[in-house]
Amino acid sequence: MRHVNLMNQPSQSTRRGSCAFGRLGMPVLAAGVLIISGCEGPQSALATAGTGAERIAGLFWWMLAGALIIWLIVMGIGLYAVRRRERRFTARATHILIVGGGVIFPTLVLAVLLGYGLHLLGELRTPEAGSELHIAVSGEQWWWRVRYSGPDGEAIELANEIRLPVGVTVELRLTSPDVIHSFWIPALGGKMDMIPGRETRLVLEPTRTGVFRGACAEYCGSSHALMAFPVVVMEAAAFDDWLEGQRRPAVSSGNRLARQGEDLFLMNGCGACHSVRGTDADGALGPDLTHLGSRLSIGAATLPNDIDALVRWIAQPQAVKPEARMPGFGMLDETDLHAIATYLKGLQ
Ligand code: CUA
Repeated sequence: MRHVNLMNQPSQSTRRGSCAFGRLGMPVLAAGVLIISGCEGPQSALATAGTGAERIAGLFWWMLAGALIIWLIVMGIGLYAVRRRERRFTARATHILIVGGGVIFPTLVLAVLLGYGLHLLGELRTPEAGSELHIAVSGEQWWWRVRYSGPDGEAIELANEIRLPVGVTVELRLTSPDVIHSFWIPALGGKMDMIPGRETRLVLEPTRTGVFRGACAEYCGSSHALMAFPVVVMEAAAFDDWLEGQRRPAVSSGNRLARQGEDLFLMNGCGACHSVRGTDADGALGPDLTHLGSRLSIGAATLPNDIDALVRWIAQPQAVKPEARMPGFGMLDETDLHAIATYLKGLQ
């Protein structure tokens, strides 16, 4: 019983407690508001925009409520033990408390959670009524290769951006050529590993339109944190138009600077790694650039898609993304870099 005596100083601790709460009230409230406002945003698993994310967020809120109730019970028992030191428990009551509260109760709670989690996992992996759209995504170092199946079954390759029609079940087939990544769009659904030599699958069903953010959720090398992508959920008709546009070969903006940029792009060997469909550039090592100008960002969501950012990226990719595989073209003069950037930005 000695340890109980040490903790039991009622009059002092009560006074100090109420004072501390008065002083801490505002900061605690401010922290609470900040934490709750962190639940919003394009990369929040709690601001849901897909059926998978809704189920996961539901599980989170149930767990939070359960944890809060259990915490209150434990605190209640703790306070009771501290305040009521004069009452001794019988050996039987102590035994019931330890076995019941320390073994049976947590086992039951964890078993129910495990059962519910496994049930949820099944629901997340299998679409209810077959997927209507298939997209293959490969995690590269450190960007995303994205392939849509066109109307005739042909592959339409793009990179670092995913667009989805709202209300349509989409199956993503995920893989990687070298290291393990994890594909995650928190607002839409769960995360799934991308494992070399294997194909993993993830089913998503967006429930509202908007622009969200996906990211790599597993450390994969120096630029792991610079490997994100915008996810645009569109109305079905707008999505069809967009996919049809992506299917077509590149159309250059055609002005003099852009034409000069195209020549420089081909002359400097960019086409050895990048494809621009409709030109001689047919490399497959780096991201497809056929409709680069239409994307929301460049460098896998590391820079905005504008001329200055393109110039910066082409001249010194490693300064933006450490250990990026693309060689820098800083030896080109400013005018040439500007011309190439203008050509790429014009690829709508
Ligand atoms: Cu890819 Cu972390």
